[in-house]
Amino acid sequence: MKTYSIALVPGDGIGPAVTDAAWQVVETVARGSGFVVEGARLPWSCDHYLETGAMMPDDGIAVLREHDAILLGAVGWPAKVPDSISLHGLLLPIRKAFRQYANIRPHRLLPGVEGPLRKSEFDILCVRENTEGEYSGAGGRVHQGSEDEVAVETAIFTRKGVERILRFGFEQARRRRGKLASVTKSNAQRHSMVFWDEVARDLAREYADVEVTSYHIDAIAARMVMAPETLDVVVASNLFGDVLTDLGAAIQGGLGFAASANLNPDRTTPSMFEPVHGSAPDIAHLGVANPIAAIWSGAMMLDHLGQTDAADRVMGAIETVTARGIGTIPGKHKTDEITRAVLAALD
Ligand code: NAD
Ligand code: IPM
Ligand code: MN
Repeated sequence: MKTYSIALVPGDGIGPAVTDAAWQVVETVARGSGFVVEGARLPWSCDHYLETGAMMPDDGIAVLREHDAILLGAVGWPAKVPDSISLHGLLLPIRKAFRQYANIRPHRLLPGVEGPLRKSEFDILCVRENTEGEYSGAGGRVHQGSEDEVAVETAIFTRKGVERILRFGFEQARRRRGKLASVTKSNAQRHSMVFWDEVARDLAREYADVEVTSYHIDAIAARMVMAPETLDVVVASNLFGDVLTDLGAAIQGGLGFAASANLNPDRTTPSMFEPVHGSAPDIAHLGVANPIAAIWSGAMMLDHLGQTDAADRVMGAIETVTARGIGTIPGKHKTDEITRAVLAALD
C-alpha cells in the first residue's frame, strides 16, 4: 500500500492543537482511501529552544529531508523567545533550505462563514514569493545604541527568483480564471520593483492567454476589501504577500480559515503545509483555536502528494461542517468539537 512519511512540527501555542486536528483528519481520510500516512512528531519549538539552546537540532534540515512532506502548526512565543531567534531558527530556514519558493494561500468564503464583506463572492489565490526579497536577511546595524545608529535591511530580488514566481503565478492563472494581478510598489521603489514589473511584462508575451494587471501594493490592499471579486491569482513579493494574505484571511472570516502551502514546485525537496496564522498566544490555552486553516492545509498536502480524491473529501467535509454553522463564529465551538464534526462528515 502506498505509504507517505510526514514530518509533523506542531511548534508553539495553538500549533499543537491545530496540527493534531489536521493530522487526525489526514489519517482518517487516508484509511478510507487506501493509503497510509506515517507521522514523525518533532518537538521543535520555543520550549525546545529553552531546553536545548536551539529551535531544531543541527541536523534538523537533514531529518526533514527524509520525509515526503512537512505539516507545521505555528512557530513563535515572543514572551519566551524573541521572534528573531524562533522564526529564524525554524520556519524561515526550512522554507529557504528546501527552496519552497512558492507560498500558495487560497482565500475564499466557506459556506456558512460570514466574512466582514457580507454577500461578496470571491476566490483569490495568493502566490507569495517565499525565499528572497525583503526576507533575504541581508543587512545590519552600525553604531548600535548611539544616536547615529543606522539599521539596513536589504531586499534582494534575483532574476531567477522573480521569474520563477511570476511564471508560477501565470501557470496558476492559466488553470483558474485566466487573470493575474502582479503586485509591486514601483512608484516608490525604483530598483527591485521596476525590475519585477519588467520581468512580468516580458513573461506576459509568453502567456498571451492570461490577462495580467500590475497593481501597487497599497491599491490592491484596498481592492481586496472593496472589490475582491475582481481578483483571481495575485502574485507578490515575500513581505507584500505576507501582509496581503493576513488581509485575505480577514475577508474570508478570520485567520482560523486561511491555509497555505510552501511549495518546492521542482519536487526535489519536501514541501511544507501550515495555516497562515501564528501561535495565537492570546487564546492558546482556551481550547478554542479554529483548526479549519490547519485541516485545509492538510488537504493541500494530500493534493500535493497526488491524493486528490482524499483532498477533495477533506474539503467537502470542511464545507459540510461550516455550512452547518460549526466553527464559523469565533470561540463558539471548541477545537475538538470542530475536529470531531469534520471527522464525522468524512464518513
Ligand atoms: P497570530 O496569527 O498568532 O494571531 C493573530 C490573531 O488571530 C490573534 O488574536 C489570534 O488569537 C487570532 N488567531 C490566530 N489563529 C487563530 C485560530 N486558528 N483560531 C482563532 N483565532 C486565531 O499572530 P501574532 O499574534 O502576530 O503572532 C503570534 C506568534 O506567532 C508570534 O511569535 C509570531 O511571530 C508567530 N507567527 C508564526 C507564524 C507561523 O508559524 N507561520 C505565522 C504568524 C505568526
Ligand atoms: C507567515 C508568518 C511568517 C512570515 C513569520 C512568522 C516569519 O507571518 O507565515 O505568514 O512572515 O512568513
Ligand atoms: Mn504572516
